[in-house]
Amino acid sequence: MSGLTDLAAWQTLSDQARRFTAEQFQLRRLFDEPQRFQDFSLRQGNLLLDYSKNILDQASLEALLALAEARELPAAIDAMFRGEAINNTEHRPALHVALREPAGSSSHPEVAAALDKMAQFVAAVHSQQWRGFSGKAIKAVVNIGIGGSDLGPAMVTQALKAYGSGHVAVHFVSNVDPVHLRQTLAGLDPETTLFIIASKSFTTLETHQNAAAARRWFLNSAADEAAIAKHFVAISTNLEAATAFGIDPDNLFPMWDWVGGRYSLWSAIGLPIALAIGMDNFRALLAGAHAMDQHFRGAELRQNMPVLMGLLTVWYTGFFNAHSSAVVPYCQPLEQFPSFLQQLYMESLGKRVDRAGNPVDSNTGEVLWGTVGTNGQHSYFQLLHQGREFIPVDFIATARAGVDEAGEAHRHLLSNCLSQSLALMQGTPDEQDPHKQLPGNKPSNTLLLDELNPHNLGSLIALYEHKVYVQSVIWGINAFDQWGVELGKQLSKSLFSALDDDNNSAGLDGSSAGLIQQIRQWDTS
Ligand code: F6P
Repeated sequence: MSGLTDLAAWQTLSDQARRFTAEQFQLRRLFDEPQRFQDFSLRQGNLLLDYSKNILDQASLEALLALAEARELPAAIDAMFRGEAINNTEHRPALHVALREPAGSSSHPEVAAALDKMAQFVAAVHSQQWRGFSGKAIKAVVNIGIGGSDLGPAMVTQALKAYGSGHVAVHFVSNVDPVHLRQTLAGLDPETTLFIIASKSFTTLETHQNAAAARRWFLNSAADEAAIAKHFVAISTNLEAATAFGIDPDNLFPMWDWVGGRYSLWSAIGLPIALAIGMDNFRALLAGAHAMDQHFRGAELRQNMPVLMGLLTVWYTGFFNAHSSAVVPYCQPLEQFPSFLQQLYMESLGKRVDRAGNPVDSNTGEVLWGTVGTNGQHSYFQLLHQGREFIPVDFIATARAGVDEAGEAHRHLLSNCLSQSLALMQGTPDEQDPHKQLPGNKPSNTLLLDELNPHNLGSLIALYEHKVYVQSVIWGINAFDQWGVELGKQLSKSLFSALDDDNNSAGLDGSSAGLIQQIRQWDTS
């Protein structure tokens, strides 16, 4: 499905956009319409999306909705939920939504069985019935995984620290840089440490290296391979490779090829989350995501939160030359949310050909980035306000503070959040000094939650997952493969052997050869 820009709906949008790029346009004038906030905001559960500060009026919204219809978005949403092989290059469905169906109504009984296995394991560790090889209770859990087997679980574990069960401390090791594992293990006791090896494929280099190093560290103390069964569990689709690594088959948690890595925190890949916050809270996270799934599947397009957010991004990348968008949570526990979203977003949408392999004729996935507010205000917000790049922002905030007795600090946090979106929108058009002039007309969404809890976080993550899908459908690309990461993995094998042994350097390109020579001179170890 190519030819996006030839569609009549695209042409209409192009005409619409011209009204807003004209010199005299002022976003703030759209608020002359007293109903604007009511008309351009939407509640789903305890999430409120205020999209009124966007460059959008009823006519342009209608045109975006017409584009969604022209790209058959409702049918595409249905296809995902029905389990069609929408990941067409890998010939399989993308059924992360099946992972959060309520127990009893699950279309995949194996999901419920895996959740039960997780629940039993979490209960055994928390009740101290599960003990290490020397009879001591488990105090620390180290999750070894990377990409989707790290970012989601790490982000959620940090975001929901306030819901921690207090039974175990959960750590995450992802980087093949040995410093990461070394620093994490410093201070941990092998007798009370449990390792989770999380890898959908069980072939990922970084995870393999770290898992092997963790095993060596452990066996230095345990001295008996039989002890591994008490300290190593794994989550994978590749049960054979996990068993070959030495994982006891009883300690294997399944996942399935119809779950993409970056969509997998809802599966047993979420085990470190469940160990950190308990199974009830993990199930609340799933329930929150399911609530968003139902909304996405059931709500009409104009009342559909992921659809509206996805269409807005299509609008800005297609007609306003947006090359990036920022996500700025005014919520310290969501510190890792932007890095989690980077994989979800850019691995899914960083594509240049459509589902049939033809070049896409519009911009596709832009760069997504961000950090928590208010910190960002003191680093890159200057560029948002006065730079030449057009960067739409998603602000995220919670009405209630994340700590008791927050005093006025939380109100300061919120007032900063609200003031930034306002400043971006209205600018200082009357300012005469060009150095002090802010052009305004910079769009943003504000996502307001009543509080950050497992249910709301589940909904928030699912909202972005579905927004990504909406964009992929409009652009006609496959959001569920990631072929672009393969070449680097292969090249690293030959560069590894060149680094390992000079005799393997023949045929290297000049840059790699020069760098390797300098590495050899400096690294005499
Ligand atoms: O290299 C990219 C990637 O394949 C991601 O898509 C995935 O989340 C990550 O590597 C880790 O993969 P695995 O869980 O198979 O170790």
